[in-house]
Amino acid sequence: MLPSILIIENQAYPIPWSVQSFKDSLTKDYFCQVMLLEEQIIGYFIIQIILDEFQILNICISPDYQGKGLGKLQLLEIVKLAETKRMNRILLEVRTSNKVAKNLYQNSGFHQIGKRKNYYPTKSGREDAFVLELALG
Ligand SMILES: CC(C)(COP(=O)(O)OP(=O)(O)OC[C@H]1O[C@@H](n2cnc3c(N)ncnc32)[C@H](O)[C@@H]1OP(=O)(O)O)[C@@H](O)C(=O)NCCC(=O)NCCS
Repeated sequence: MLPSILIIENQAYPIPWSVQSFKDSLTKDYFCQVMLLEEQIIGYFIIQIILDEFQILNICISPDYQGKGLGKLQLLEIVKLAETKRMNRILLEVRTSNKVAKNLYQNSGFHQIGKRKNYYPTKSGREDAFVLELALG
């Protein structure tokens, strides 16, 4: 399963997660789910559960399947899961340059609650992150 995820990760992100980052997230405080189409992985998400909060660490759709509503479907799945587990809120960071992801989150009710300066590496330096929240309950 990990090799298929890594292929998508490398196609979808300019600065992808390493194999080790994925392995680190396979511990008990994390929740990972894949999206399948005819037994082929086309998307995945990884959440860290911290007390009554979900932190979305990675949410990704294979570039071949982007723009078809599947990212929104995965995000709805996360929200449903958080509600089932009686979480208080969902948090995430997103690159300030990632307009598609920012639109997805804002159209799904997330609000900006902060900004982290130079949070992400880029190919030529660093870039800020918006911190977004969806309050639940
Ligand atoms: C971000 C990502 C998960 C969105 O998934 P997707 O399947 O492409 O998006 P969807 O088709 O479900 O569209 C959801 C919303 O995203 C926004 N969106 C999608 N494509 C867009 C585009 N080309 N331009 C601007 N906004 C766009 C829209 O707000 C859209 O909602 P709407 O159709 O109601 O307007 C996906 O593009 C992806 O995997 N990107 C690479 C990895 C990544 O950046 N992950 C997020 C890290 S924080």
